[in-house]
Formats: sequence, C-alpha cells, structure tokens
Amino acid sequence: MEVLPQRDSGQGPIPEHVAIIMDGNGRWATKRSLQRLRGHEQGAEAVREAVRGCGDLGIRYLTLFAFSSENWSRPIEEINHLMGLFRFFFRKEINALSDAGVKVKFIGDIKRLPDDIQSLVAEIKERTQHNSKLILTIALSYGSQSEIAGAMRIIGEKIKKGELSAEDISEEMITRHLDTADLPDPDLLIRTSGEKRLSNFLLWQCAYTEFVFLDTLWPDFRKEDLMAAVAEYGNRNRRYGAL
Ligand code: IPE
Ligand code: IPE
Ligand code: MG
Repeated sequence: MEVLPQRDSGQGPIPEHVAIIMDGNGRWATKRSLQRLRGHEQGAEAVREAVRGCGDLGIRYLTLFAFSSENWSRPIEEINHLMGLFRFFFRKEINALSDAGVKVKFIGDIKRLPDDIQSLVAEIKERTQHNSKLILTIALSYGSQSEIAGAMRIIGEKIKKGELSAEDISEEMITRHLDTADLPDPDLLIRTSGEKRLSNFLLWQCAYTEFVFLDTLWPDFRKEDLMAAVAEYGNRNRRYGAL
C-alpha cells in the first residue's frame, strides 16, 4: 500500500483518506413535506460536491457509504428508487469522473445488486482503473461485519487447504482479506445528519480514525462542510495510544 506524507494546509494536516456516511436524505425531504425519494435525488448533487471538494483540497482517497447491507430491509419502493438513482448517477457521471482523473472502486456485496447495476459497476471500474488523482470508493450493499465474516471464511478455507496456518493470522493478514485491502485506513470519518454512530461502516478500518459529526443533512452538504470537517481534523491530536 502506498503511504504518502501528509501535507499541511496551513491549518494543520490534510487527511489522506476521508470516509463519509451520507445520512439525512429522508429527513431533508420530510422537513420540506416532500417524499423521501426527493431527498435521495438531492443527495446526488452533494456527492458531486464532495468529489470536487476532495479533488480541490488534494485529498487522495474518498470513501462514500451509499447503501448499507441493512438498507435492504427498507420498503421495496425506496430500494427500487435508490437503485434507479445509482443507475442514473453512474451512467451520467462515468465520463466526468473518468475525465477528472478519478479512479472508482466499489466495496460491499455487489452481487446482491440488480444485474445491470453490476455491469455498470464493472464498466466504471474498468474505465477508470488507470486514474490516480482521487481514489473514490463507493460502499454499496456494504456492511462491515459481513465484510469481516467474508474475510474469515477465506482465511478459514486457506487454512483448511494448508496454504496458511492459524499462527499466521495477524492484524495485517485480516486487513489484506477485507474489501478495503488496497486502501489506507480512513484518517477522517464524517457523518452528516447529527447521528453519532457507525451503522456498520468500516468498523475494523476506523480503529484510529478521527470522527466529525455534522448536523447538516446530506443533501445540503457543500464544500464548506468538507472544509470545516477537514479544519477540525487539522486541530486533532492523533496519539494512537502512545504519549
Ligand atoms: C441516507 O439517508 C441514504 C441512505 C441510507 C441510502 P437516509 O435515507 O438514511 O435519510 P434519513 O436518515 O432517514 O433522514
Ligand atoms: C447509514 O445510514 C447507511 C448509509 C448512509 C448508506 P442509515 O440511515 O441506514 O443508518 P441508521 O439506520 O440511522 O443507523
Ligand atoms: Mg439515515
């Protein structure tokens, strides 16, 4: 894994990897007496803003929580609408992302998605694989506990085949078997909407991540919110348990 030195923005270091739990679409709509679906539609604009903002600030990795394993238990109409939005967003943005030098990756149980979205996911990954300005990882049908269980199954199979022994299991080995194997751990995790929980996002990877919780609802998220979170990160003292 490539580790870059952290640059200083004049207001403290810039995080190398920012992860965002994009929450509050439904409440944004309900506050305006609109259907929840309208909130998800507005959220797409905030995604563009976050991607542009990270590019402008020189952040190398952005990871966005778009749909969780648990979100499959929402009403089917909302799931279908979200799938429609992913379809629309991926088709519409593939050229812009590719031209902007963004490499797009996906984590999560992609096989649970409709076939055409799986094809789009494959196409975007292919089209952007040689880019490196910003590594954008989209967590779709993602749950951290399921990701860790999957890694354990693979390690278990390797032990059964004699390729590994139980003594080989280390933190590094587990990290290498996760969906995020080729990403550094997030430096900064932002959650919008005022909720203060991880909701099964990157549990292993956030061992030493700094958390910033914003009251902003995701559809209202703008570059200024990103900058505020990055500035707060810049003032944190990361100690990693040492003195
Ligand atoms: C986040 O917004 C988007 C997804 C989880 C897909 P929500 O839909 O959770 O919005 P709230 O939390 O109900 O306001
Ligand atoms: C987390 O938000 C998942 C995404 C933002 C994609 P949720 O709205 O699903 O989380 P809970 O239910 O409030 O914990
Ligand atoms: Mg929510």
